[in-house]
Amino acid sequence: NKKPVIAIDGFSSTGKSSISKKIAKKLDLIHIDTGALYRGITFFALENCLNDSQEIDIKSLFEKFDQIHLEFILNNGVLELFLNGKNIDKEIREPRVSDHVSLVAKQAEVRAFLLDFQRNLAQKGGVIMDGRDIGTVILPNADYKFFITASPEERAKRRHLELQHSGVDISREEVYENLKTRDKIDSERAVAPLKKADDAILIDNTLLNKEETIALILSHISK
Ligand code: C5P
Repeated sequence: NKKPVIAIDGFSSTGKSSISKKIAKKLDLIHIDTGALYRGITFFALENCLNDSQEIDIKSLFEKFDQIHLEFILNNGVLELFLNGKNIDKEIREPRVSDHVSLVAKQAEVRAFLLDFQRNLAQKGGVIMDGRDIGTVILPNADYKFFITASPEERAKRRHLELQHSGVDISREEVYENLKTRDKIDSERAVAPLKKADDAILIDNTLLNKEETIALILSHISK
């Protein structure tokens, strides 16, 4: 009896990751947050590939791919991201990373660099993988696919609260703008744009809390 492969895609701040984490616990699966990988590469670029105006030089990033070794290491049942042996799980959540990640993630070279890495993680089954293109590109044969969305206002509210809790000083408007910008870049990019797979189940959780969203997803899985 092989454990399932579940693909969860959707917009930023729909609660995708924390919902996936909880479902992983309930169903005894490994949760893989693929956004962390794009964030990891962005973090590397911010540390190593800035030009004179302190912006990421994409060419220099491509030239340094062979210096990037990403790894997920299990710690207390949760995968944490390591870059060249250093735990960067905290750093990749910083706003400077959020501000640049979509520009990095839209590069075909970056997506190609991460493709096999992600597929290998799901090879043995028993995973719930969340991202933007999991059901469409990375794991088109997943056993279950969900696409999560919510209104941008509600998502900005959630992300703002989350950032406040972790002590980041940022206004609701700034969070909203960052979200809208990322939505736009993610949905309009040429390679693997954010979109619902034809066979994914659409979940709009604007009016649902986390527990209700989880219950709804589980009701589809136990069918
Ligand atoms: O999920 P999270 O918000 O951490 O993802 C950060 C960014 O990484 C997204 O805005 C998107 O640009 C990129 N991403 C992606 N494909 C994925 C996961 C994330 O392009 N599968």
